[in-house]
Formats: sequence, structure tokens, C-alpha cells
Amino acid sequence: MRTLIVYTTRHGTTESIAHYLADWLTGDVDLLNLNDRSTHCVLAPYETVIIGSSIHIGRIPARLSAFITRHLDDLLRKRVGLYLCCMNASSARTQFEEVFPLELRRHAIACATVGGEFLIERMTIADRLIVRTVSGVKESISRIDYDTVNCFARSISNRDEDAAEASTGDSPLP
Ligand SMILES: Cc1cc2nc3c(=O)[nH]c(=O)nc-3n(C[C@H](O)[C@H](O)[C@H](O)COP(=O)(O)O)c2cc1C
Repeated sequence: MRTLIVYTTRHGTTESIAHYLADWLTGDVDLLNLNDRSTHCVLAPYETVIIGSSIHIGRIPARLSAFITRHLDDLLRKRVGLYLCCMNASSARTQFEEVFPLELRRHAIACATVGGEFLIERMTIADRLIVRTVSGVKESISRIDYDTVNCFARSISNRDEDAAEASTGDSPLP
């Protein structure tokens, strides 16, 4: 099975989860960071496509939205996983529903909000100011939910024992 993990990242958290998943999954796994690549890519060689994003001020990067719009028809013919990094746990589910189209969410075999990080030292002054004002956070913190990441990975995996274990976890997002 060949898998593509497509992601965007601002301070590195979504990327680190993409690498974690790539290490976890079996078979060939390619990574595509849309921060420095065009949204044009050939999905034909891939049976599975995982899309990862973070959210900033309620939005995912335009480039990731453009990727989804551009490849939606192809994506609906593949095994798809969607994950979102975010720090507002209480609105994580709502944010997830707002950023990924319903058609894609319904089609996906795995959907997850996986927490996130505030990596202050990697932020611009403007980002630090927003984080401090909105969240009161002045120092870096990590709130990645690795239990959810592992469950997501098991759902994507085509190994029977992993699928059985994933099905005993929390119900997935719609
Ligand atoms: C300027 C800024 C705005 C953010 N806005 C939101 C938000 O609207 N909702 C949320 O849940 N998290 C928000 N976050 C948290 C990010 O989603 C979190 O830091 C994530 O781990 C970033 O991942 P990345 O480094 O891969 O971009 C924000 C973070 C920053 C720095």
C-alpha cells in the first residue's frame, strides 16, 4: 500500500505528526509539505491520502483548501484520513467540521483532532501577541493527544489487528 501525507504547517506541529504517522504506517509513505510546493501533484500512485492541517484564527491555509478543491474528485476515490491540529479543545470538533468539506469528511476512513502546540520561540511577534492576548500563554506548551494520533494511525492502517483495535476506540468525527 502506498500512502501520501499532505500537510501544511506554521510552526512545525502538523509536520511532526505527519512524520510520526509516516514512521508508524507500513508500506511506502511519501510526505508532501504544501508550504513550499504547488498544490499540483499526481495522486494516481497512492491508495491512501492523509491530509493534515493546523488552524489559525479559525482558518486553514488557503493552499490546503486549494489542494482539497483541486483534488476532491480523486480523493473521493481513495482511502482518506483527515487530521487537524488545534489548541482550542472545546471547539475542536466544530473547527474540524468547518475546515474540511462534508463530502470529504463522510468519505474519510479516519478523522481526528489531535491537539496542538504553542511553540513560542518559532512564532512571529504578531503570532506571540495573538496567543498571549487570546490564550494568556507566554511559554511554549505541547498538548498533542498521542492516544488519538495512534488510534487515527490504526484506523488508516490496513493491518487487521490494528483495525480491530481502532474500532474499540472513541467514535470518529463525522
Ligand atoms: C496565531 C495563532 C492563531 C491560532 N488560532 C487558533 C484557532 O483559531 N483555533 C485553535 O484551536 N487553535 C489555534 N491556534 C493553535 C494552533 O492550531 C496550534 O498552535 C497548532 O499546533 C499549530 O500547528 P502548526 O505549527 O503545524 O501550524 C493558533 C495558533 C496561533 C499561533
